[in-house]
Amino acid sequence: MKLEGKVALITGGGGGIGAAVAERFVNEGAKILITGRRQGLLENMAQKLPAGSVEIFAGDVSKEKDAKGMVETAVKFGGKLDVLVNNAGISMIGSVADISIENWNKTLAINLTGPMMMMKEAIPHMIKAGGGSIINIASVGGLRCLPGRTAYCTTKAGLIMLTKQTALDYGKNNIRCNAVCPGGVTTEMTEADFGQAAKMVGMETGPFIKEIATAMPLNRFADIHEMGGICTFLASDDSSFMTGAELVIDGGTAVVDVVGAGISGLMRKAGVL
Ligand SMILES: NC(=O)c1ccc[n+]([C@@H]2O[C@H](COP(=O)([O-])OP(=O)(O)OC[C@H]3O[C@@H](n4cnc5c(N)ncnc54)[C@H](OP(=O)(O)O)[C@@H]3O)[C@@H](O)[C@H]2O)c1
Repeated sequence: MKLEGKVALITGGGGGIGAAVAERFVNEGAKILITGRRQGLLENMAQKLPAGSVEIFAGDVSKEKDAKGMVETAVKFGGKLDVLVNNAGISMIGSVADISIENWNKTLAINLTGPMMMMKEAIPHMIKAGGGSIINIASVGGLRCLPGRTAYCTTKAGLIMLTKQTALDYGKNNIRCNAVCPGGVTTEMTEADFGQAAKMVGMETGPFIKEIATAMPLNRFADIHEMGGICTFLASDDSSFMTGAELVIDGGTAVVDVVGAGISGLMRKAGVL
């Protein structure tokens, strides 16, 4: 049990990647607080975990009062806070000229200001406790561009820099801060986002995702549970000398050149790769 005795807060822990991380953390011995806007989703998730291991807080990471409430509740529940996973995030489609300012601001508020406020609240508790580990769930979209995901990619790139800055400023306090950059993972967000893109090109979501995956070395999207291990590693003392890093977990997509991706897709379709 790699997280025995640790207390963790996972934003967006009621579903998708956050839920898988929550489940894994509890299996590794941690006490956790999960947050999200939908109370029902959190209650369902909590019911799946052993009593006493989990507390919930329904709120919005983009609201300062809620961010404060999340951290305070976690500390009250576990007596301290060792690990913060900034996982909650949204994706909205739109290029510069056509994304509404409302959607741009909403994406910035949830994907970038939210994690910043969560860290702002959590860090003083971590300093008091002698250290901690912060894991920011960014995206490969923070490293390279995705068509029409202007706000999303910009916020994820910002989150990666915020991670590095925090690692530098709080290393002296034994607080580590790392970013995880997943590629395609099958979740509610992917279904909605890729579903919209699929519609634009007249395809169903399932075949659309399958087609994209042919360009990925592992030839598939990830299951949410494949994100649990990397977060456990970053939360645990196994990564005690790692901070300011961006860990890419994308089925190998980053190693493929754009021309190579096109060739891979065609070769996979023909059954020769
Ligand atoms: N899926 C992928 O392929 C992929 C790839 C790269 C990076 N990521 C990143 O991984 C993270 C999780 O994504 P996911 O795919 O698991 O998405 P998801 O299935 O949509 O889950 C996101 C979770 O965040 C919560 N959330 C959203 N906005 C929130 C807010 N303002 N305040 C509090 N909670 C909020 C949602 O719950 P409520 O709606 O109830 O609030 C939900 O439980 C995101 O940061 C995403 O950008 C995902």
